[in-house]
Amino acid sequence: MSVIFQTLVNKGKTHLFKKLLNGSQSTCECLYSRKSSGIAKKFLSFDEVVAQRRAEAKRSIVVQVNSEASFSELYGYCSKYADVNGIHHYKNTAEEHFMLIEFSSEENSKAAFQSCSSHQKDLDIMALNSPFLWFRAAAGKKETYAAHSATLATVNGIECVDEDSLFKDLMNCETVSEQIQLLYDRTILNDLGARLRYMVARQIECVLESLYANIAVRPFGSSINGFGKMGCDLDLVLTNTVTEEMSQPGRRLVYQDKRAEGGRAPWARHMQCVAELLELRVAGARRVQRILNARVPIVKFAHHYTDLECDLCYNNMSGVYMSELLWQLGSLDARVRPLTVAVRRWASATGLTNPHPGRWITNFPLTLMVLFFLQQKTTDGFVLPTLKSLVRRAGKEDVRVAEENLNCTFLRDMNKLPPECYSQNEANLQTLLLQFFEFYAQFDFQEKAISINEGIPIRKPNAQPLYIVNPLEQALNVSRNVSFEECERLKSEVRNAAWQLDAGLDRQKGDDWGLVGLIEQKTTRGLKKLLRAGNSHRLVSVKDLFNDSDESEPQDNLRSKLE
Ligand code: CTP
Ligand code: MG
Repeated sequence: MSVIFQTLVNKGKTHLFKKLLNGSQSTCECLYSRKSSGIAKKFLSFDEVVAQRRAEAKRSIVVQVNSEASFSELYGYCSKYADVNGIHHYKNTAEEHFMLIEFSSEENSKAAFQSCSSHQKDLDIMALNSPFLWFRAAAGKKETYAAHSATLATVNGIECVDEDSLFKDLMNCETVSEQIQLLYDRTILNDLGARLRYMVARQIECVLESLYANIAVRPFGSSINGFGKMGCDLDLVLTNTVTEEMSQPGRRLVYQDKRAEGGRAPWARHMQCVAELLELRVAGARRVQRILNARVPIVKFAHHYTDLECDLCYNNMSGVYMSELLWQLGSLDARVRPLTVAVRRWASATGLTNPHPGRWITNFPLTLMVLFFLQQKTTDGFVLPTLKSLVRRAGKEDVRVAEENLNCTFLRDMNKLPPECYSQNEANLQTLLLQFFEFYAQFDFQEKAISINEGIPIRKPNAQPLYIVNPLEQALNVSRNVSFEECERLKSEVRNAAWQLDAGLDRQKGDDWGLVGLIEQKTTRGLKKLLRAGNSHRLVSVKDLFNDSDESEPQDNLRSKLE
């Protein structure tokens, strides 16, 4: 794959490479090359990717429109104010249509902002500063715009994959490796999904900028670590760092302080204020919940325009550095992300993971289990280096200290990694998935802990049933919540999976061959079989049968006024 990429880079066609990768943001980021600098770098750093995404969000807006057909008029209208780089269309679950417009520069987008109008002169509403807008129907006679040949960059860009067609295509693959790659390509968070997550972060930043100096709101977790699927939740962190520049003693004009008064921890009070602002000043933020007595205070909310469930916390930079570490390890080898996505999907299908918090394993420790497996020195060699080897190679520029003086220093520039740290293992995805299950089917969970720092099983420091060392805070176990029963279930499910996959590697073996049998929801398996056998007429709708949500009717308050 890197040969194809290099050829396309040499021809200046990295966009074709992105297309080739089915829009999957993560894979293209790992191999993306900075052609403009003239140096074909194999790896972009995490900071470079984040900076690109943040800049992209600053020059973008999201506009609610009547339908996909509004594109031409919206394009004509916006191009009057600024150069448009591209327009992406999507629908939310309320069937409302939106266009994400990227302008060519932040300056450019300011011109568009200056042209915005507010809803009404109404005290209940009060105009707000936000990149989420709507496109009003033209008053009176329709305006005419210059003819253009522009087309939508994306149509229906965040639609989740149709499960029935996914399963049908998985059945038609030739090998399990192909199935794993297909599952990854179809379900991984795409470019528009990433853009929208940065837009929500930007929207909150816009509201808070005038209240806090040097504020930043950044996505972290699966939205950016390269393992997130379409529709994954959005974890956000709010930081208010005093930069080195700001703290120079030569700067003699200093802001007057404002101390948070009252008994409560100051940041719990600030987060209380942020929650109020989400309710009052952030368009689209709904169902705001305050969880402020936790060690890390969190404000949860739903973002209506993007369909995102969001968790906003304060100053949790270790979460961001952890995402960086996961992103980096995922970018080192093209097999890491597809394999992890398959394992995450299998764990969800078996009910080992669950969207609600509890006594079971979650996606983050599960991902560490996959990374740890890939560090094992088998007869084929390892796939990933240990974290210890990245820490050893860190330079001055890699020093990061997170909250509570947590040292999060490790080598950031993967281009500096010596050849002996790269994988010599050439096993395909099918082999790796089977080996993953076999490895954990034999793992001594009773005595041993999993540590991606060491890359080998280490002695458990206590009797917690499942022990996975927190890579950035090694005295902690990231799976300390997992009960004995859940750990036993994990052990039994990996044994079952190893057996099932081994027995079903051949596509002639029937309906549930390879990955299909592993990732089908146990509850829907029978129904899916009926559907695939062409019996769909016997069912009303699989979705209806399993829909236990009491979703209200889509809110349509603006629709009538939209163009
Ligand atoms: N995290 C951490 N230490 C923990 C738990 C979480 O540093 N003990 C960080 C990780 O960077 C993790 C992020 O917080 O990726 C978000 O946690 P969570 O939402 O639980 O996991 P995700 O990776 O986002 O997976 P999911 O798609 O299930 O949300
Ligand atoms: Mg998350």
